[in-house]
Amino acid sequence: MDDVKTSAVHYNDKVVRQLSIMAVVWGVIGMLVGVVVASQLAWPELNFDTAWLSFGRLRPLHTNAVIFAFGGSALMGTSYYVVQRTCQTTLFMPKLAAFTFWGWQAVIVAAVITLPLGFTQGKEYAELEWPIDLLITAVWVSYAIVFFGTIGTRKVKHIYVANWFYGAFIIAIALLHVVNNVAIPAGWMKSYSAYAGVQDAMVQWWYGHNAVGFFLTAGFLGMMYYFIPKQAGRPVYSYRLSIVHFWALIFTYMWAGPHHLHYTALPDWTQSLGMVFSLILLAPSWGGMINGIMTLSGAWHKLRDDPILRFLIVSLSFYGMSTFEGPMMAIKTVNALSHYTEWTVGHVHSGALGWVGLVTMGSLYYLVPRLFGKTEMYSKSAIELHFWLATIGIVLYIASMWIAGVMQGLMWRAVNADGTLTYTFVESVKATHPFYVIRVVGGLLFLSGMVVMAWNVLKTAATGRAVNVPVPAVNPAHA
Ligand code: HEM
Ligand code: HEM
Repeated sequence: MDDVKTSAVHYNDKVVRQLSIMAVVWGVIGMLVGVVVASQLAWPELNFDTAWLSFGRLRPLHTNAVIFAFGGSALMGTSYYVVQRTCQTTLFMPKLAAFTFWGWQAVIVAAVITLPLGFTQGKEYAELEWPIDLLITAVWVSYAIVFFGTIGTRKVKHIYVANWFYGAFIIAIALLHVVNNVAIPAGWMKSYSAYAGVQDAMVQWWYGHNAVGFFLTAGFLGMMYYFIPKQAGRPVYSYRLSIVHFWALIFTYMWAGPHHLHYTALPDWTQSLGMVFSLILLAPSWGGMINGIMTLSGAWHKLRDDPILRFLIVSLSFYGMSTFEGPMMAIKTVNALSHYTEWTVGHVHSGALGWVGLVTMGSLYYLVPRLFGKTEMYSKSAIELHFWLATIGIVLYIASMWIAGVMQGLMWRAVNADGTLTYTFVESVKATHPFYVIRVVGGLLFLSGMVVMAWNVLKTAATGRAVNVPVPAVNPAHA
C-alpha cells in the first residue's frame, strides 16, 4: 500500500497518508486544548493553580498545535499529493520527503513538551526556542527541495496554479521564519532577539501577518485550487483570474503587517501604509473567493447532496467574510475600538475555523478514501453530521466574540460628563462572562465534529469498500 500506480506514473503516497492521518490527530488535540483555554477564560479555577496547566502556557500550545501541527501536516500532505498529480511524476528524493514527515512531527512533539514547561521566545506564533527553530529550518529547507525538485522533474510543461500558491507558501515561510527568529542564544532554552524595541515589534508583525497570509492563506488557496475543481468535477472558473489573484495577493500581503501595531511607537506613516495595503488586500482576496465559488457555476445542485463540496464552498464564504472584516479592522478608527478586544479573536476564528478548518476537512475527505484505495468515506452521514456540528460551532464562536468584543470596546471608552470612566475594567470582564460560556459551547461542537471525522477516517482506513473508479480529469494540468 506504500505507493499508488496510476497509468504510467508511480506516485509516492506513503508520506501523504502519514501527514493526512497526523493532521486529523493534531486537529483533535489542538482543538481540545482550544476548548480547555476557552473554558479557563470562562472559569479561571480550571487553571488549577498549576504553572504548566495555566492559560498563559496552554494558549501558545493551542495556537502552535492548530496552526503548525494540524494546518502544517495538512498543507504538507496535500501539497505532496497535488504536486505529483499535476506534474505527472513521483516525489523528488523520497527519503528526504520521509525526513520532512518525521522532522515535522519531532518539532511538534518538542512544542508539546517545551511550551507547557514555560520555554518561550515571547513572540506570538514564533514561541519555540532556538534549537527547535534550527530543526524547523532543516525540515523546511528539505520540504522546499522535495517540492521544487518534483516541479523541476515534471513530465508536463505547465505548472498548475495550485503549485504556485503552495510554492509561494513554502518560500515565504522560510524567509519569515529565518528573519524573525534571528537571536542570540543564552543557554539551551533561552535566547534574546537580535532586534530591539519597535524594530523587534515591526519584524515580529511582518512575520505574524505574513504567517496569516502565507501559512493560513496562500497554502490553503493551493488546496482550494486543486480540490474544489476535483470534487465539483469542473474546471477552475477563470484560469486567468487565478494568475492575477496569485500575483496581487502575494505582493500586497507583505506590506500589511503594521495594522497589528496601530497607535504604538511605530512611526505613524508606517501604520498608515499598513492600513492602505490592508484595504487593497480586499480585492485579490475576493477575486480568489469568487474564482473558487464560481467554479461551481452550472453545478450548484451538487451542493444539495455532496457534503464534501459543501465543506469546501462554505469555507470560501468564511474566507470572504474574514477578508472583508480584516481590512475594516485595519482602518485606524475601527481598530481603536476593536484592538485588545474579543472582536480580534472572533475575526481570527472566522478565518481559522471557517476558512482553514473547513477547507482542510473538505480536502481530507476527498483525499482519505483515495489514499486507502477506496472510492468514498466509510460514512457519508457522518460527514453530513460533521458539517453541521462545525458550522453551528463556528457561528456560536464568532457571533459571541463579535458581541463581546464590540461591547468591551464601547465599555472601555465610555466616559462620564466629568471625564471619569463609566465602567471599571472588572465590570467589562463580568459582562463578557456569558459570551465566554457560549464560546465554550461552540468550541465543543466544533471539536466533536473533528472527533466524528477521526472516527470516519479510521473506519475508512480499516474497512472501506475497495472499488476503483477513475477520477475524471477536470483541468488540462490534472491527471
Ligand atoms: C475547537 C476549536 C477552537 C477553540 C475552542 C479555540 C479557542 C481559542 C481560545 C480560547 C483562544 C484564546 C483567545 C484569547 O486569548 O482571548 C484562541 C486563540 C487562537 N486560536 Fe483558537 N480555538 C479553536 C480552534 C482554532 C483553530 C482550528 C485555529 C487555526 C487554524 C485557531 C487559531 C487560533 C489563533 C491564531 C489564536 C490566537 C488569536 C489572537 O492572538 O488574537 N484556533 N483559540
Ligand atoms: C484581507 C485579509 C485580512 C486583513 C486585512 C486582516 C486584518 C487584520 C487586522 C486589522 C487584525 C487586528 C490587529 C489588531 O488589532 O491587533 C487582524 C488580526 C488577525 N487576523 Fe486578520 N486579516 C485578514 C484576513 C485574515 C484571515 C483569512 C485569517 C485567518 C485565516 C486572519 C487571521 C488573523 C489573526 C490570527 C489575527 C490575530 C493576530 C494576533 O494579534 O495574534 N486574518 N487581522
